[in-house]
Amino acid sequence: MRTLIEGGTVVGPSTRLEADVLVDGEHIAAIVARPTPTDRTPGLMADRVIDATGRYVLPGGVDLHTHLELPVSGTVTADDWVTGSRAALLGGTTTIVDYAGQERGGGLMAGVERWRERAAGRACLDHAFHLMVTDVRPDTLEEMAAVVEQGVTGFKLFTAYPGTNYADDGQILAAMQRAAELDATIMMHAENGIAIDVLRAQALARGQTGPIHHLLTRPAALEAEAVQRVVALAEVAGCRLVVVHISCAPALAEVVAGRDRGLPVYAETCPQYLVLGIEDLPEGLDAARLVCSPPLRWRHEGHQQVLWEGVATGRIDAVATDHCSFTWKQKLAGRDDFTRIPNGLAVIEHRLDLLHQGVVEGRLSLERWVEVCMTAPARLAGLHPRKGELLPGSDADVVLYDPAARQVLSASTHHMASDYSCFEGLEVTGRVETVLLRGQVVVDEGRHVGRPGDGRELRRGPATMPEAGRSEG
Ligand code: URP
Ligand code: ZN
Ligand code: ZN
Repeated sequence: MRTLIEGGTVVGPSTRLEADVLVDGEHIAAIVARPTPTDRTPGLMADRVIDATGRYVLPGGVDLHTHLELPVSGTVTADDWVTGSRAALLGGTTTIVDYAGQERGGGLMAGVERWRERAAGRACLDHAFHLMVTDVRPDTLEEMAAVVEQGVTGFKLFTAYPGTNYADDGQILAAMQRAAELDATIMMHAENGIAIDVLRAQALARGQTGPIHHLLTRPAALEAEAVQRVVALAEVAGCRLVVVHISCAPALAEVVAGRDRGLPVYAETCPQYLVLGIEDLPEGLDAARLVCSPPLRWRHEGHQQVLWEGVATGRIDAVATDHCSFTWKQKLAGRDDFTRIPNGLAVIEHRLDLLHQGVVEGRLSLERWVEVCMTAPARLAGLHPRKGELLPGSDADVVLYDPAARQVLSASTHHMASDYSCFEGLEVTGRVETVLLRGQVVVDEGRHVGRPGDGRELRRGPATMPEAGRSEG
């Protein structure tokens, strides 16, 4: 089956072209520039033609950081592999990299296998895995090789969450050394969990049990300190590092300082940190809706501005969602104690639209939008050029995006399983219209027309971020 996508503007990480795209089976066969925007390309024969006039023709989105069906805080995230992956597709994401988890006392491959079982036959999109290493032991370090062999080339470690996911500096260094040997990537949740636990206990002892104290006990300085430390550990180990879900200016500055020393250290942020601030928290218990870690930051301190500039200039490499959705009832587990609120927000459906607001507002270029949402995440995941860019031979994951459509984000219209929206009432310009997954139309006029099980697991290689030519700001 040959499909011709004609009449659109094809956008890549460094190009914007009036061009037609020919899809043959599961792959991109050709991208042919039109002499003028309204010309049609002669000689491209196809079984089906999709009219993309007035639309951007984009590579499918790649979300480097998701949590579907994650058991956490005595519950399981609201979105499972069907609902979460369907919502992602409807938002223009065709590939996710989800975090499989090691059980404490358990092995690494057992974690990968558990996640494979959950995704198999249910994922609506292509997917790959990182592995959260929550118990660094000598045998765990050994087993990292088998995991990489299986195409899982990213390992997440935590300086946060003592007692559950936390690893100490020695464990982190040892895992980083092993990752360096294996050409794997360490994904780091960097907050000083030991110090945060002291602040949390002090707040509870003062009777400060409300959700706002989740945010106030995780200050930006303790994120920045942890980033500085893990960058130093990565430098000693000689390993590639992605600091995930960066929420604030001083934490980003530590990544930039590492990079200025020539280290392969990369920064990921999330739409929630770009768009929301502590000022947006509802009063009282309702603030539990926006509890995540790292927390939202004060807008008046300028973090959002610095993060947007980072996205625009290349100091931030990738924008992922850290999608970790809960219902309001699940959040209410922390009604009397903020430390019991399950951490995380439902974002997987809105990443492209929220970042497109940056394009609309002149904060970043169209090309950079594609780079941070598609190409760089694919490179960091070791999935490029198969994913993340429209190139001859790449998978035909294609998004037709209407840049002029207007929509209001709301729980009443979103497709995520969370029964509230973190972005309720936010008006955005731009909307995903059509999505192809490996040549198959899976979203048509904003409706999911694919099936659970359409998605395949992708075996990852090493990350392929270009060292030269990165757009440092
Ligand atoms: O609050 C968050 N971010 N929950 C998801 C788990 C994590 O730490 O990434
Ligand atoms: Zn994390
Ligand atoms: Zn996460």
